[in-house]
Amino acid sequence: MTDTPGLLTIRRPDDWHLHLRDGAMLQAVLPYTARVFGRAIVMPNLVPPVTSVAAAAAYRARIMAALPAETDFTPLMTCYLTDETSPEEVARGFAEGVFTAAKLYPAGATTNSASGVTDIGNIMAVLERMAQIGMTFCVHGEVTDGDVDIFDREAVFIDRVLEPLVRRLPELRIVFEHATTSQAVQFVNSASANVAATITPQHLHINRNAIFAGGLRPHAYCLPVAKREEHRLALRAAATSGSPKYFLGTDSAPHPQSAKESGCGCAGIFNAPHALESYATVFEEEGALDQLEGFASVHGAAFYRLPVNDERVTLERAETRVPDTLAGPDCALVPFHAGESLRWRVRTP
Ligand code: DOR
Ligand code: ZN
Repeated sequence: MTDTPGLLTIRRPDDWHLHLRDGAMLQAVLPYTARVFGRAIVMPNLVPPVTSVAAAAAYRARIMAALPAETDFTPLMTCYLTDETSPEEVARGFAEGVFTAAKLYPAGATTNSASGVTDIGNIMAVLERMAQIGMTFCVHGEVTDGDVDIFDREAVFIDRVLEPLVRRLPELRIVFEHATTSQAVQFVNSASANVAATITPQHLHINRNAIFAGGLRPHAYCLPVAKREEHRLALRAAATSGSPKYFLGTDSAPHPQSAKESGCGCAGIFNAPHALESYATVFEEEGALDQLEGFASVHGAAFYRLPVNDERVTLERAETRVPDTLAGPDCALVPFHAGESLRWRVRTP
């Protein structure tokens, strides 16, 4: 980190949890991430989901073809786990450098999770193999039972699924994706070095009141849903603590404005356009700008056993107004912080 007043230069960051979509949407949203981030763990919840080595290699090629000229960005692909996934397919993809990780969507938990896993027992052989080969398991940590309150689904998942799994497979490397609760922070803190978590900008900025502020606010709705203020504060403390267990994962998840502002609005917050500025604002508010580089650019690479990026990015302390909408493919996209101002701006070369 370089410390000139008003300027903050850090190693180029990576995004360890990102939805890039496909086709025209991919084309529209990829430049925002590739401008700032060196690599991203790309979520596999396309329609149909990315469940094979061949599908992931083809998706990676489409991402590379959609990259703007002169951008240097590496997509890190994930395998969407289903009840039928074979350990051989996952291990082959990892050995061939196609899969960086495999992702658990509990069936029905979120967008395009219908083909997800119905019971963790159904993928135990896959997880055993992943533990043996040191491949990371990315977890959407929510139970899906309709009788569990939506605000409790993460905490119940930790009790019912994750704690037993960690006892059974202590060698498995687990990223608890988009942690939203103090229970997740406690769990990750007390687990071994094989367990880490990503934290999104939105869960550091908003609590659940934001979803209902003066009316229903679809652009504050994502899954896992934002929780009470005490949880937001626990996440802020974790992210800015300097612990190598926490790293940047935006969960940027674009949906057309019309699909968000609907009688049944889609879950997902499109934060890619100002993600680093959004995190920097939080770290500054917490008096922890010196911890931003670790969280954004170092801890994730270390967990995934990858080198850190050599390049640097510079943030300047300048008021940045976030537009109300951005252009999507034949639609508008409403970015996180739409219409607000952030205190930082990423300098473009
Ligand atoms: O809010 C979310 N949107 N959470 C997820 O887990 C999936 C994502 C999406 O793909 O839209
Ligand atoms: Zn996600």
